[in-house]
Amino acid sequence: MKTAEEDRAMSLKLFVHSAILATVIIFLIKVAGYADELQQSRCLLGVPKVLQNAFVPPFNCSLCEHLDEVPWILSNETDQYSHLILRKEVPLVVRGAYRKIASEKTMSWDSLKEIYAGRTKKETCQFFPYKTEFRDLEDALQMSHERMQNHFYVGWSNCDPSISEILQKMYDVPDFLPKDSERSALEWFFVGNAGQGAHLHLDRLDKPSWQAQLGGSKRWTFVPLYECYFACRQLEIVTYPGDIILLDSSIWYHKTEVFGPELSIALGSEYD
Ligand SMILES: *[C@@H]1O[C@H](CO)[C@@H](O)[C@H](O)[C@H]1NC(C)=O
Ligand SMILES: *[C@@H]1O[C@H](CO)[C@@H](O)[C@H](O)[C@H]1NC(C)=O
Repeated sequence: MKTAEEDRAMSLKLFVHSAILATVIIFLIKVAGYADELQQSRCLLGVPKVLQNAFVPPFNCSLCEHLDEVPWILSNETDQYSHLILRKEVPLVVRGAYRKIASEKTMSWDSLKEIYAGRTKKETCQFFPYKTEFRDLEDALQMSHERMQNHFYVGWSNCDPSISEILQKMYDVPDFLPKDSERSALEWFFVGNAGQGAHLHLDRLDKPSWQAQLGGSKRWTFVPLYECYFACRQLEIVTYPGDIILLDSSIWYHKTEVFGPELSIALGSEYD
């Protein structure tokens, strides 16, 4: 026969064990969710900063030492400033450059829906819901008119050849990019409304990329790597419809924020 004392000790032990087990399970679920998130994310925000910088080649801080904002040029000045374009370490905005390469001058949410309505494959390469509830691109494209009035910012890459074909008719690769850069098969879209955007992060891309502002306006903030923290300032710039920004998103922490009443739609790709 067990005494009441032993009973109490037993239930206490049981309680402690259950609590530990529950904690472990919650921890494992969190870790699994976190791993899942990391896998979905193009960003490395979750990885320790020290590790992040280990991926990044040394950066020459004197390239950004005297900059107060992201340099920008006009689309008719690309020959004159080709050295700024070829210097891939510092972001650059070419104002109005997309208008020169685009057959469709503007892009709306409806035209995006139209493009994707005819696609053959139901997958995107990657979908970034950011803070939204959307599970995939399909889900996001089906959002109601009411939902669109609320905050949202999403991004996705396209590797559906039938969509690529449509996009290829929409624009040419910017002619001021290095002559040997090939048209990347992978396009990115980032769409969202006022106040929304991507949090401060570094990407792990091998190549620099360009991003065209097709609609709306977006504020970019670039924060230098730690080794340039004291040498360089945080740089900002706003991209307006028709602008193209060139950036190496693996050597500048960057964040974006849509502002103004228009929906921000940006199209991007990597280049050599
Ligand atoms: C760093 O950049 C500056 C200015 O562009 C250049 O003069 C210098 O040679 C570079 N240093 C190295 C180590 O590449
Ligand atoms: C570029 O265009 C602007 C007007 O859009 C004009 O003022 C400027 O002179 C042009 N620059 C060159 C180099 O043609």
